Amino acid sequence: MNIESLVDAAREAALNAYAPYSKFRVGAAVVAEDGTIYTGSNVENAAYGSAICAEGSAISHAASSGVRKLTTVAVACVDAPSVDDSYPCGNCRQLMNEFGVESVIVTAGAGDVREHSLEDLLPHGFKLDT
Ligand code: THU
Repeated sequence: MNIESLVDAAREAALNAYAPYSKFRVGAAVVAEDGTIYTGSNVENAAYGSAICAEGSAISHAASSGVRKLTTVAVACVDAPSVDDSYPCGNCRQLMNEFGVESVIVTAGAGDVREHSLEDLLPHGFKLDT
């Protein structure tokens, strides 16, 4: 997996965003341990709180295909003015934590691409040990 093709996949997924309310299209591409890429986009709702984030959409795509471990997530906020406005929300960071994501790649529609460890973005993420 190279970063450029993963970013391209996330940017392309954003073109399928259903974002009539915010007009803020987001795409995500997640990588399973075997290298398979799953994509998703944000899907909004007239009941605003029912919106699904792109990362959650892509992670659900992978998990419901049987994947239980993800290595990398790329997120592309193609309508954001800069990469600074393109970071995943707290809920999505926790979703990434559940599936063992190690690396998070963040980008807007063009320009800078940044890579962080999930540990940097979500220190002490919640785990349920029963
Ligand atoms: N959004 C995402 O898809 N991912 C995030 O990490 C943050 C926000 C979406 C949700 C909503 O459809 C739009 O961006 C504006 O909040």
